[in-house]
Amino acid sequence: MARRVVLAYSGGLDTSVAVRWLMENHGVEVIAVAVDVGQDADAGSEQWELIRQRALAAGAAEAIVVDAKDELAEEYCVPAIRANAKYENKYPLVSALSRPLIVRHLVAEARRHGADTVAHGCTGKGNDQVRFEVGTRSLAPDLDVLAPARSWGMSRADSVAYAAKWEIPIEASAERIYSIDENLWGRAIECGAIEDPWAAAPDDAYTLTRIRTAEPASVVVGFEAGVPATLDGATTSVRSIIEQLNTLAGARGFGRIDAVENRRVGIKSREIYECPGALALLAAHADLEDLTLERDMAHEKIRIEHRWAELVYDGLWFSPLKEALDAFVERSQRHVSGEVRVRFEAPGLCTVEGRRSTVALYDQHLATYDAGDAFRHQDSEGFVRIFGLGVTTWAARQARRERP
Ligand code: ARG
Repeated sequence: MARRVVLAYSGGLDTSVAVRWLMENHGVEVIAVAVDVGQDADAGSEQWELIRQRALAAGAAEAIVVDAKDELAEEYCVPAIRANAKYENKYPLVSALSRPLIVRHLVAEARRHGADTVAHGCTGKGNDQVRFEVGTRSLAPDLDVLAPARSWGMSRADSVAYAAKWEIPIEASAERIYSIDENLWGRAIECGAIEDPWAAAPDDAYTLTRIRTAEPASVVVGFEAGVPATLDGATTSVRSIIEQLNTLAGARGFGRIDAVENRRVGIKSREIYECPGALALLAAHADLEDLTLERDMAHEKIRIEHRWAELVYDGLWFSPLKEALDAFVERSQRHVSGEVRVRFEAPGLCTVEGRRSTVALYDQHLATYDAGDAFRHQDSEGFVRIFGLGVTTWAARQARRERP
């Protein structure tokens, strides 16, 4: 029996060509696995069936579609929200969150179909190869990994010709403008005119964040222990909250990121992202933490958050440090419950206008400058004197030195 390879299949040119290329060059049977992480918000089951048929037409022995939209929301976006995760303070980890999920399904299908190898369509220059391979090896050190697009040496035109030769039905044209990766959490756009970091990103790079209304919108996001739970009071799935915020915020032009980023492989790259729902939820969650986390906890958590985002960006989702940091974050979220009112307004504004919680640490009797003040002003005198004792002593000594 031929060896079996499980391929992460997108339905695009590269992975369609990869099906046939793996068969021809490695003599293997290919099981194509397409994972729906919300890359096409409008795609119905017919569209996914078309993608499945394309894999079979390319020669796959089997083609499987997995609907993982809720899984992405609940098991990957939620931890990212609770960790306020933004790589290099900007990027909410769109692609980095979906890769470990896809890897989990690839490994599960490899076990189910008796495959000894996992394959992906990434090139040698990006982070996604790192995430696929390190992720696979952390879950299944016995599996091999193949990366055909890293070794076949075909240009895009070569791939189109290869597809034509094997009668693989593809929609792509010989040249493409951008390389796009998309899911529920946002959209990453690379290549083309974007590669010049001085040039403004062309308008056609954006799709989710086009202004479609001048009407401002306010929405109340409710959290339970750091997990988004309600929208305007109605209990809704995390996935639906993300989708609704994508629409609400995106239609008012909010959610664009234009940044130069440090890839794991040592390259600096100019990236455009559209993450309306993600950035809105992250802003709301962080704001609720300001209301509910004790000061030392809040400050320590910020240190951990950068590390968490870096580990996830680097493909170390399944790693002992990430697991330990998850435990810290999880514990920190026990009282991050309450509501945050967020307002969106064209062109591209997102403002937190209010927050409330039954477990808020904000105490108006302590904070107020008006009547009802419960703060013990007389305690401050001694506190401030002792707090400043170190620098007071230092300053007195300096003065003596300066005037001997
Ligand atoms: N730079 C981002 C990241 O590393 C986006 C990657 C997008 N992937 C793609 N195949 N276009 O997570």
